[in-house]
Amino acid sequence: MTGDDVRGGRLDGKVVIVTGAGNGIGAGFATALAAEGASVAVVDIDGGAAEQVVSAIRERGGRGLAVPVDVTDRASVRAMVSAVLAEFGDIDVLFNNAGILLKEPYLSTTERQWQKVLDVNGLGVLLCTQEVARHFIARGRGKVINTCSTSSRSPSAHFAAYAASKAAVLSLTHSSARALAPYGITVNGIGPGIIQTDLWSQMHRDETGSARAADSLAALDDYTPTILLGRVGTPGDVAPTAIFLASDDSDYITGQLIMVDGGIVLQ
Ligand SMILES: NC(=O)c1ccc[n+]([C@@H]2O[C@H](COP(=O)([O-])OP(=O)(O)OC[C@H]3O[C@@H](n4cnc5c(N)ncnc54)[C@H](O)[C@@H]3O)[C@@H](O)[C@H]2O)c1
Repeated sequence: MTGDDVRGGRLDGKVVIVTGAGNGIGAGFATALAAEGASVAVVDIDGGAAEQVVSAIRERGGRGLAVPVDVTDRASVRAMVSAVLAEFGDIDVLFNNAGILLKEPYLSTTERQWQKVLDVNGLGVLLCTQEVARHFIARGRGKVINTCSTSSRSPSAHFAAYAASKAAVLSLTHSSARALAPYGITVNGIGPGIIQTDLWSQMHRDETGSARAADSLAALDDYTPTILLGRVGTPGDVAPTAIFLASDDSDYITGQLIMVDGGIVLQ
């Protein structure tokens, strides 16, 4: 075993679903959770990317299952939940992490852009939570963790639809915490700041046509002065909070948003 191999630990025996786990923050969650002993359903609209993350988990001795899903489609979400139950027999934790980013000046944001971003980032959280909650209610416990954002608290002019969608995720975190507490289910949010992932390079490609990773990284550096700790983050900066929220250590916490942003939003 190497240092990256499964070492067992805080999530032994738990079954965790991570949506949007084919890339970026979700892939970081999936590999870190598996390294703590969880069986991880790596679910993503990009089935090939999900398979790659599962291969990496298995190479390190972990347990993973790739399931293609479109979080905006209830039938697809139901099929995903059935596939996870068929493979692992139970579900302990759901991470609603799938999301898309849109940068567009406020005045030119279109109906179509609004609908797309609100569907993936907002409706997707509602549908996945509803479908997994049915299982949690039957077993009398469960945890839901939603990927929010600094934009949930502090919207900027060029990310109006995205920020509205992330405010919706925070609101859903609060409403579902209230709705599901009587069934022993907790719901919390993680608020990443500026995290270096393909979300940003994709946006940079769309904006400039440049696929150069160095250009996209340089564009991210523009945000550095807004971060108290003086650097953008990586998925590895966010994963420890995901492990904590998935573990029994968070059992008495619900309805909360934990910012992991290097100090952008001060609450
Ligand atoms: N990167 C950041 O700076 C940052 C900051 C705050 C919040 N977030 C949030 O973190 C989450 C992950 O972002 P990321 O930076 O890792 O992005 P990413 O683009 O690297 O990964 C997002 C994943 O979601 C998947 N996805 C997109 N639409 C989907 C759908 N309809 N159904 C299922 N999967 C779908 C994509 O295929 C992709 O694998 C998002 O919710 C994002 O809003 C990111």
